[in-house]
Amino acid sequence: MKIAVLPGDGIGPEIIEQGIKICRAIGEKFHHEMNFEEALVGACAIDVTGNPFPDDTFELCKGADAVLFGAIGDPKYDNDPKAKVRPEQGLLAMRKKLGLFANVRPITTFLSLIDKSPIRRDLVEGVDFVVVRELTGGIYFGKPQGRSEDGNTAYDSSVYHRYEIERIVRLACDYAMQRNKRITVVDKANVLATSRLWREVSGDIALEFPEVKMDFLFVDNAAMQLIQWPRKFDVMVTENMFGDILTDEASVITGSLGLLPSASIGQLTSVFEPIHGSYPQAKGKNIANPVGTILSVAMMFEYAFKLMDEAGLIREAVEKSLTENFVTEDIDPANPRSTSDVGDWIADFILGKG
Ligand code: IPM
Ligand code: MN
Repeated sequence: MKIAVLPGDGIGPEIIEQGIKICRAIGEKFHHEMNFEEALVGACAIDVTGNPFPDDTFELCKGADAVLFGAIGDPKYDNDPKAKVRPEQGLLAMRKKLGLFANVRPITTFLSLIDKSPIRRDLVEGVDFVVVRELTGGIYFGKPQGRSEDGNTAYDSSVYHRYEIERIVRLACDYAMQRNKRITVVDKANVLATSRLWREVSGDIALEFPEVKMDFLFVDNAAMQLIQWPRKFDVMVTENMFGDILTDEASVITGSLGLLPSASIGQLTSVFEPIHGSYPQAKGKNIANPVGTILSVAMMFEYAFKLMDEAGLIREAVEKSLTENFVTEDIDPANPRSTSDVGDWIADFILGKG
């Protein structure tokens, strides 16, 4: 297994180190040979090469069986709207060039953490759904985008082609088939032309999956229902920006953004990353929660290598660390463990020393 490792910015390197620790533990336990190679992405890549997604990084990712990714972003760019190159462009370039059209973000709750959720226990207990976010189209990439010559007008374009909607809705229906066979298409078809195309094409794809029950929700209504009845969802599929916003909202259900993994499924390779950002305030302090990254490693074993026992053992180890309350400060500020100690604990559990 050839794994490209892109730690990125902020807490990226610290959490990725834990991810690799878990890979090595799994490798030892199940006798897999794994090969890791690192490359630059984001602000640190700009500092060294001037490019947030250098060609060397692209080549490494293209030739890898999977990519493990930390985080991107640096405050020195956030406060400068005039910066010509931005770290986030590296992430967008990576998504586009590797053809990562589907971002899969599972939202589940952990029994031992239910009371960390700001939402009432009776609403969040048993929540288990997955958001499939379109990742290489829509307003993030549509042309034209820019500013008028006098600088007083700015514009973005949301563009979707039929084939982009077909492939993502089909993938989401495949997930639904492996789950409870329900899918919710989220759009704004009462206002947007792209959303009306999404509805039309989704309806066509639904015919290929007679067992899947498809329904449609306007995004504003979906934002409300996610909080009010989070248990009612199974698979949700939506366009790029709606998916970005709804998954941050959904992450609150579980109690900490630091817990959630994601997989970006692509044409050339797939990328596995926690959904949280680079958390620059915590950089180098060994306090960030590595669980989102470790669960992303579990997704890597499941989706990229089809190794279900390995993925299952990682999830079991994480679950155990949470019930034993061996957790970072975002979960237990009164008795916090460090990033690396949590990584060690989970790796030891995997190796049977826990
Ligand atoms: C995410 C992030 C990115 C996005 C940013 C960093 C460009 O928020 O992966 O959800 O908007 O897609
Ligand atoms: Mn986001």
